[in-house]
Amino acid sequence: MVIFKDIETLRAHLTSARGTNATIGFVPTMGALHEGHISLIRASKASNLLTVCSIYVNPAQFNNSSDLQKYPRTLEQDVKLLEKEGCEVLFVPSDSEMYNANTSLSFDFGHLDKVLEGKYRPGHFSGVALVVSKLFNIVQPDRVYFGQKDFQQLQIIKHLRNQLMFQLEICSVPIVRLQSGLALSSRNARLSKNDLKQALLLFESLNYGLKALRANSEFSIIRVEVAKRFEGIKGVKLEYFELVDRESLELLEKFDKGRNSILLIAAYIGDVRLIDNMLVE
Ligand code: PAJ
Repeated sequence: MVIFKDIETLRAHLTSARGTNATIGFVPTMGALHEGHISLIRASKASNLLTVCSIYVNPAQFNNSSDLQKYPRTLEQDVKLLEKEGCEVLFVPSDSEMYNANTSLSFDFGHLDKVLEGKYRPGHFSGVALVVSKLFNIVQPDRVYFGQKDFQQLQIIKHLRNQLMFQLEICSVPIVRLQSGLALSSRNARLSKNDLKQALLLFESLNYGLKALRANSEFSIIRVEVAKRFEGIKGVKLEYFELVDRESLELLEKFDKGRNSILLIAAYIGDVRLIDNMLVE
């Protein structure tokens, strides 16, 4: 695996690779890699001659400085994992490489970035869209790989691609979970043994919601029931539990079988904020 820290030499390398007709698959990450990230690398390796991974903890998408500071950084281990998977290129830029001037560019995705994560993390998706646009322009991939774990991010990036006419295919990869059901996340590294047990509340709430919807329960009642599960447990806090339309992210109060929908949840386990989701099928 070849590792690049600066844009110029990465570009030169990719230009010559493209000259040999290599299709480029790109997996953007913030590092602290786990099996979820690795499933994206494998998906890219299966369809492209060259896979580029980036590891960059993007300050512009953190609306909480302590979350940014505490974000796990495990570069040495990440490099080993990527090498084992046969990833060909790794890009690990510094802050000054990615943000060379005072950036004032921001994005507004209308409804898409005002609900769910957008409501609780104002500015987050603008920061994601900014760094992803920069990375797409730097790497110029044929295909990009994103996880369904960050469902709203995936929908926003599809919108970004369509609006800015990036010539690339967006490939989405299913959520990778532990056997217990807990969705893998870099932030799980910050959970204690007891936290890991409590974190199962997210997966359990989604399962409960799915079952109850299938049994024709009202979503407003299900939401109250889920909130009750979180109340009374010390150190956990539910932020949202919502049913939305998969394309428009319109919040739904009633389950409509004719509409593709998804359940999404966000909660704090101690001071670690976790998200998860489940397609309603
Ligand atoms: P990060 O949280 O590192 O995630 C990188 C990619 O891995 C995302 O597409 C995410 O959805 C995917 N991923 C994370 N956990 C997963 C899991 N359990 N199963 C499947 N895929 C999973 O998302 C970001 O970084 C950043 O916002 C980024 C897009 C890199 C922009 O900074």
